[in-house]
Amino acid sequence: MSHDHVISAKSLSRADIETVLDRAAEIDRTPPDRDRHADDLLALCFFEPSTRTHMSFETAIKRLGGDALDMGPVESSSATKGESLADTVRVVEGYADALVLRHPSEGAAQMASEFVDIPLINAGDGAGQHPTQTLLDLYTMREAAGSLSDLTVGIMGDLKYGRTVHSLAYALTKFDARQHFVSPESLSLPRSVRYDLHESGARLKEHTDLDAVIEELDVLYVTRIQRERFPDENEYRQIAGEYRIDAATLEDAREECVVMHPLPRVDEIAPDVDATQHAHYFEQAHNAVPVRMALLDLLLAEDDR
Ligand code: CP
Repeated sequence: MSHDHVISAKSLSRADIETVLDRAAEIDRTPPDRDRHADDLLALCFFEPSTRTHMSFETAIKRLGGDALDMGPVESSSATKGESLADTVRVVEGYADALVLRHPSEGAAQMASEFVDIPLINAGDGAGQHPTQTLLDLYTMREAAGSLSDLTVGIMGDLKYGRTVHSLAYALTKFDARQHFVSPESLSLPRSVRYDLHESGARLKEHTDLDAVIEELDVLYVTRIQRERFPDENEYRQIAGEYRIDAATLEDAREECVVMHPLPRVDEIAPDVDATQHAHYFEQAHNAVPVRMALLDLLLAEDDR
């Protein structure tokens, strides 16, 4: 890995990504010794709710022989007394060997990383980035399709506020994937992300209707409408439920088309999809463990040198 901190998929090179995915595949085949990182402590600082990211990072460090230090709910942290994020991370740096940060403000992880020397991993910063979700997304695609070359990927739902989408789009561009973005116009890609993608030579098209592309897709990546990021609840209600798939939707999809979702889902994927050969979202969530083990192993090994 050429990075001390993991803040954005934009700054991960294709080689960095392949290094993590290859290490994750090794870990999947042959789990490492349980004492490989016996002295390492991973701080988990979550200022926003999480089930998967929090628990899979905790599982990952424990399976590597280390331990997790959890800041606990934000309500019982000193943030409620007015402590700044910069001060919190400077303090936590003295307790742990690496730090995982989730925060509601876009740019928070980048800012916090400027105050610490231990590796800081962005576990989601508002509507910004979620780079480790992207690593496990790519791992899941590679396992399903056999390769990340020549993929056609549809990304549907909340493209404006969905940080997993922004990270994934940057990473897929590095693999020259064909990307079809499907959303209502009001939730299309942020202008800054679209600009970056065009500047990087992304092969992208934008649509308001999944029917226009479903037959072409190797992967359909569905996302939740991010209710918590809508300034206006009425706007959310107007859109919610419009971009939903069920087993009937997938009758037009290729047999090998893989349906993914970073989860949690609300009702974007009907339960009848779960029993189809397309459903890969629970496997995707489980892949978080080997992928985050791989990332920690690489970052902590580098840190030990
Ligand atoms: N996919 C994801 O980030 O899930 P959590 O919010 O549960 O961590």
